[in-house]
Amino acid sequence: MTLTSTTLTPTKADRFSFGLWTIGWQARDQFGDASRAPLDPIEAVHRLAELGAYGITFHDDDLVPFGASPADRDKRLAEFRQALDETGLVVPMVTTNLFTHPVFKDGGFTSNDRSVRRYALRKVLRNLELAAELGAQTFVLWGGREGSEYDSAKDVRAALDRYREAMNLLTGFVTDRGYGIRFALEPKPNEPRGDILLPTVGNALAFIATLDRPDLVGVNPEVGHEQMAGLNFVHSVAQALWHGKLFHIDLNGQRSIKFDQDLVFGHGDLLNAFGLVDLLEFGGPAGSDGVAGPAYTGPRHFDYKPSRTEDYDGVWDSVRANMRTYLILKERAAAFRADPEVRQALADARVAELSRPTLADGEGHAELLADRSAFEDFDAGQVAERGYGFVRLNQLALEHLTGAR
Ligand code: GCO
Ligand code: MN
Ligand code: MN
Repeated sequence: MTLTSTTLTPTKADRFSFGLWTIGWQARDQFGDASRAPLDPIEAVHRLAELGAYGITFHDDDLVPFGASPADRDKRLAEFRQALDETGLVVPMVTTNLFTHPVFKDGGFTSNDRSVRRYALRKVLRNLELAAELGAQTFVLWGGREGSEYDSAKDVRAALDRYREAMNLLTGFVTDRGYGIRFALEPKPNEPRGDILLPTVGNALAFIATLDRPDLVGVNPEVGHEQMAGLNFVHSVAQALWHGKLFHIDLNGQRSIKFDQDLVFGHGDLLNAFGLVDLLEFGGPAGSDGVAGPAYTGPRHFDYKPSRTEDYDGVWDSVRANMRTYLILKERAAAFRADPEVRQALADARVAELSRPTLADGEGHAELLADRSAFEDFDAGQVAERGYGFVRLNQLALEHLTGAR
């Protein structure tokens, strides 16, 4: 594969999707007013389809404003459905807004106020009916307000009990209704709350294991959210895959530990983005023998914010940029994997040797204790002298990434 306009032109087969709240973000922030006019959801559907996306996602309140009358709700939904039919765009995922309205200022599922928790559950049940109607397979829950600023004000153990109670109710609901929807929890360490519950992929995975129907709940990791916590996103995604829990993914860019930047995919830590695409598309290092296929086949969902400096031309440019960057990285990762020098460097680095079990077939502690070569005769000094050549391998990755090879 080479970098041609064909390989870099997105098609529906690439499964690129965008949140309505991303392109529709009016760029209102903590310090400034909106810098763009509202975007009509119908125009969003048509534009995304023209640019090569296959899906659009939204929060309940993105499509139907909070508190809209039933007649207004029906009208907006009918128009949206018509635009989907006209363009063939699908809704692979729906999510819920339990963070904008001040009633959720102390959270939805975990607010100290029980009446707020009951209201949040009702809001989500209603939204699940809509998600099912639109054929969504995944329901994302980002608990941006589920958290605290002060340790004295939140009983975290009780909050986790209530979070679990909510998830058990929701998974019971989709099961009883036969919806075929799975849930994906989206971790984030902080912002807007000082500290958010289930701050990382690891916390979410541990929580999921305690649920009544753990098979119906996975994660929706976002690049910037793990990186805000100083974590390696590729590691987090790889562990989610290892648990069979990568139900959805939010792609964007983040430059180090600071506020949630939600930049275009690749506009943050580019080497990590390369590693991510290599993992999703080719299985990462496991794909070095050329046999491992994609590790993830779900939507490639962009959850970013077109910068506040941009007008609508800039917004559509940023949509193109996300998809184009993904396709460039996919092509670069394929070239990296196909390069004989890379294969040699991988072999020298013993990357594939890690897939070989440490113990022989049927070997237990007795056999290991009896194996003198493993310990008594093992020359740790000599083995320690041998370098692994990881730097050379990484430089080859960088050279493919930058087009120097
Ligand atoms: C963020 C989050 C949100 C969620 C979205 C889905 O940037 O903090 O990514 O954008 O993904 O609200 O519920
Ligand atoms: Mn974010
Ligand atoms: Mn997100």
